[in-house]
Parts: sequence; C-alpha cells; structure tokens
Amino acid sequence: MHGAPSLLVQEPLPPEYAALTDAELAERTARAKAALGKDLVILGHHYQRDEVIRFADLRGDSLKLSRWAARQEDARYIVFCGVHFMAETADILTRPDQIVILPDLGAGCSMADMAAVEELETCWAELVKLYGDKLLPVTYINSSAAVKAFAGRRGGAVCTSSNAAAVTRWALARARAVLFLPDEHLGRNTAVKLGHSFDEMAVWDRGAEVLEPDPHGAAAGIDPERVRVILWNGYCSVHQRFGPEQVARIRERHPDVRVVVHPECRWEVTRLADAVGSTEFIIETVTASPPGSKWAVGTEINLVNRLAQENPDKLVMTLDEIVCPCVTMYRISPQHLLWTLENLLAGRVVNRIQVPEDIAADARAALDRMLTIA
Ligand code: 13P
Ligand code: SF4
Repeated sequence: MHGAPSLLVQEPLPPEYAALTDAELAERTARAKAALGKDLVILGHHYQRDEVIRFADLRGDSLKLSRWAARQEDARYIVFCGVHFMAETADILTRPDQIVILPDLGAGCSMADMAAVEELETCWAELVKLYGDKLLPVTYINSSAAVKAFAGRRGGAVCTSSNAAAVTRWALARARAVLFLPDEHLGRNTAVKLGHSFDEMAVWDRGAEVLEPDPHGAAAGIDPERVRVILWNGYCSVHQRFGPEQVARIRERHPDVRVVVHPECRWEVTRLADAVGSTEFIIETVTASPPGSKWAVGTEINLVNRLAQENPDKLVMTLDEIVCPCVTMYRISPQHLLWTLENLLAGRVVNRIQVPEDIAADARAALDRMLTIA
C-alpha cells in the first residue's frame, strides 16, 4: 500500500508535554502560534476536539478544507488537524515549498485503509472484462493519494460528501459504469439520489474479490447492460454504527424531532432521515433552524457536542446514545499540536506529509477534476 497511514509510526512525545496542565498547554500553544505568525496556517476538521479546534485558523468539512489548502499563498507551514488523507490532499494541492504537517502520524482513517491500490488493480481488471474502456473511477476523498492517483490516471475524479452526486453524475455522463470507492454507503446513497435503482448497482467484495448484485435489489447476476454503479465494500466504522432502530427510538421519544445524518450512514438510515449531508451541511442546517427546534444528529460526537453548545436555543442530541468518536481524529491531541508548533519555532519540521511527485501529479488531476466539477 503506497503511503498507507498504518505504516507511519508516531515517535513518543517528550514526557514534559504529558505533565502540562490544560491552561499551560493552551497558553504555550497560543504563544507559539503567535510567534509563527503568517508563516503558519492551522486547518481543522469539524471532528477535532474542542481543545484542538479552538486553534484552527480555518475549520471546515473535507471539501472546504481542500479548497482552502489550495488557496494558501503566504503560509510556509500548514498544520492539518485532521486525518492522514486530508494532509496528503493538502500537500498535493499546495506548492512544493509549502510544508504540510500532521501533528500525530497515527491519525489515519480506517475507511481509507480499506482500499489498497493492489486490490483496486484486481477489481479494475475484472470490471474491464465487463465494460472495456467505458468505465470510470470516482474515489471519495477518504482514500490514499495512491488511490486518487489511480483514479486520475484513468480519467476519473475525487469527490467529497458535499459533491458526490455532482461528481458521480459527471462520471456517468461519460461512461457506461462508475466504480465508486471506498465507501459503499456514500456510493449507494449517491446513486439513489441520482435516481438509480438497486438493480443498477453491484458491490465489489474486496475480500472475496467478486462482484455481487446489490443486496437491496431483486436482480440476480450481473448484467453490464443494467449495472451502472459498482460500489466498493468499504465503510466508516463511526457512521456504520447508526441504525434504523435508533431513528425509530428517537422519533418515539421526541415526535417533533428532525433527524440529520451524514451520507456515510447506511441507506437504511439515510432513507429515514429528514436531511442528509456533509459535516458542513449538518452544521448549516441545524444553525439555520428556528429557536426551539429539536435535532437528532447522526455523525461524529465531537461535532454533535459542539453543535449543541453553539445552539443553546435548540435541542441538539446524538442519534446514538453510545458515544462514537472517530478514534483517529482524536489522536490529534493538544499536546501533539503544541509539540509540532514548538518544533517549528526551534527550526525543526516534524511529521511532514509529502506525497511523491509521480503519485501527486496523477492524484492532482483527479482532485482538479473535482474542483472544476463542483
Ligand atoms: P466531511 O466531508 O463531511 O468532512 O466528512 C469527512 C469524514 O471523514 C466523515 O467521516
Ligand atoms: Fe475515516 Fe470515519 Fe473517521 Fe471519517 S469518521 S475520518 S471516514 S474513520
């Protein structure tokens, strides 16, 4: 696997960082950030914890953060408080002299790890037997740079949860079939949104290396004349936890509740929700709702808790009573952020994320297509 985050090992932090109080950590981080001035931009994904996101110059969902990364003119250092694929994307979209840093190298994404290029080559070879060259890949941004490069080389594009429908529509207008990876659920939700039936979908089982009809459909066998969307069977362990029974329970307890969920949730959940969208969409939807509104939110708990704090005039609850943080997002601790910044102040770059140029060039082609489409 090229550049797989699981291969990256985070060195232990000097013990003095563990001994710092919350107040000391905050004070030293603010001081280091101020001293680095315009040389530094800190980007933060919405799933980051409060103690970290408070230092972000820009916070957003994957699409917004990619666009911002591409726009950074002045910053020499871009410290990415998010996960590995996001830092890789930022590196691909910034100039070679700009340095992208991930404060903890262990901050990967289990979904991105579910698609290795070697597995993808096997799948692609099988699909080419069915579709010839009338096939395009669409890879969710939650994938390694190597997978994005694979898509770029074959004329495909990246998408995020904000623009998956627009990118998939673009691909389906140009090809007989689309391989959507690595998130089966986002792919299925997107295909349904675009009006496709389950009989027009199939699932590539990456473990068994076989193509199966979509389990929600009625059709037997794979007819390439019928099947237009092939879903890779990866998933997000945080969002896959949400189930239809949780939606039913919350509606029973709060008949006037509205349910908003991330499109990485299973179709069985998204079909019951009042609204479905990216982290940015969820925030905008809840924030724009009138005082007194009640919301059950199906996404990562740090975002839900922050949304509840920032909307005290509304009732904002998690859809899942058992707290479900993204453990890899959580790896970015205030200690790691401070360690990173203090090293920069001392003239040392730690935890640089650098995608080799041959991979970056092809991945950039797939990212640029996305940024042009939507
Ligand atoms: P967004 O595109 O909504 O930021 O989602 C990223 C992510 O990793 C969700 O699990
Ligand atoms: Fe990956 Fe899921 Fe965490 Fe998002 S929430 S970074 S998809 S593991």
